[in-house]
Amino acid sequence: MFETLTRVPVDPILGVSAAFHKDEAPHKVDLGVGVYKDEAGKTPVPRAVKRAEQELIAAQTSKTYLSPVGNPGFNALVAELTLGSDYAGRKSDLSLAQAPGGSGALRLGAALLQAARPGSTIYVSDPTWANHIPLLGTAGLNVDRYPYYNAADNSLNIDGMLAKLESLAPGSVVLLHACCHNPTGQDLTVEQWSAIAEILARRQLVPFLDMAYQGLGEDLDRDAASVRVLAKAVPELLIAVSCSKNFGLYRERTGLMAVLSAGSEPASIVTGQLGRLARTLWSMPPDHGAAIVERVLANTELRQDWMTELRHMANRINSLRSQLADRLSASSGEDFSWIKQQRGMFSKLPLSTEQVVAAREQHHIYMAPDGRINIAGVSPSNVEHIATSIASLLRA
Ligand code: LMR
Repeated sequence: MFETLTRVPVDPILGVSAAFHKDEAPHKVDLGVGVYKDEAGKTPVPRAVKRAEQELIAAQTSKTYLSPVGNPGFNALVAELTLGSDYAGRKSDLSLAQAPGGSGALRLGAALLQAARPGSTIYVSDPTWANHIPLLGTAGLNVDRYPYYNAADNSLNIDGMLAKLESLAPGSVVLLHACCHNPTGQDLTVEQWSAIAEILARRQLVPFLDMAYQGLGEDLDRDAASVRVLAKAVPELLIAVSCSKNFGLYRERTGLMAVLSAGSEPASIVTGQLGRLARTLWSMPPDHGAAIVERVLANTELRQDWMTELRHMANRINSLRSQLADRLSASSGEDFSWIKQQRGMFSKLPLSTEQVVAAREQHHIYMAPDGRINIAGVSPSNVEHIATSIASLLRA
């Protein structure tokens, strides 16, 4: 049976971590997988998460099954965090299902689309997260692209994006990065989100928002402007929410699929469908991470402490952006100020695949093959090494 299988190519993102761990150079730098790192290069468990986890372990008396749509308290609190003050008025139009991480939520949303209209086409940004296309394609959707980024001058291609959206057939699905675009860090302004919302509504396109980094760009509310603008403009909307990065719960696989429908009747049908689909995919989502998030968000003191720590993380990333941009500009003589305008964990350096390999082999700097770097992997102690190495690669 298994002789029919072929060897799997190295994962473009996870493969970087594997290669990094094998490198024995003391000055090696990991700018690969998108995890937050503190001043010491560690990926911390936020204080409030740690406390909630301890309280949970002390208080939990049973680990019996919940349901295919998971923990309703978690679902409601995360939906409110994402939708903000719009949540209360739209509750009856919303269907919520806890999912194993943001990826699980994307997979569940894709399964819902496939159930509703088999073989639908979903358009993703060019470029997009390396796992989007295989993940959505495996669910049976056709995947195509819309222009998003001008690699030539490291800027948003808003004209190309809007023109493409205008040309899509009604019923097409459009995957949008809610904030902290992965891999470019190039986000949309509120005005640009409004222009996109107007086209989506007029052309009867269905937006699918991937919200993986809320709070790591500017702050929790500004990072969710996309969700709130679209929720007011379109009748149907899917949102895949991840708690991996902003709650530091990566390996606990904690996410939410939220679907806004045009009324309470379709919403109750969608809720049933999400439960049915989850039952066939993983039966029930893992509980632990969601139970922790529920405690953090429901407790005023823990929530405040989490928000303070999250704000510190975002500020730190933005300060690293400035340091890296200034050092790169000084070392290369080229303008890297665009890195300061971008937001979230990533920017995409203008390097060829060969230059990315050379960064690894000659300078022990590890990044994704498309030149994507995790800004949180930069630190005051390695920024000079990164800047001079990249400048030398650009000169070669
Ligand atoms: C990333 O883009 O690096 C993260 O979302 C981790 C992953 O699963 O790829």
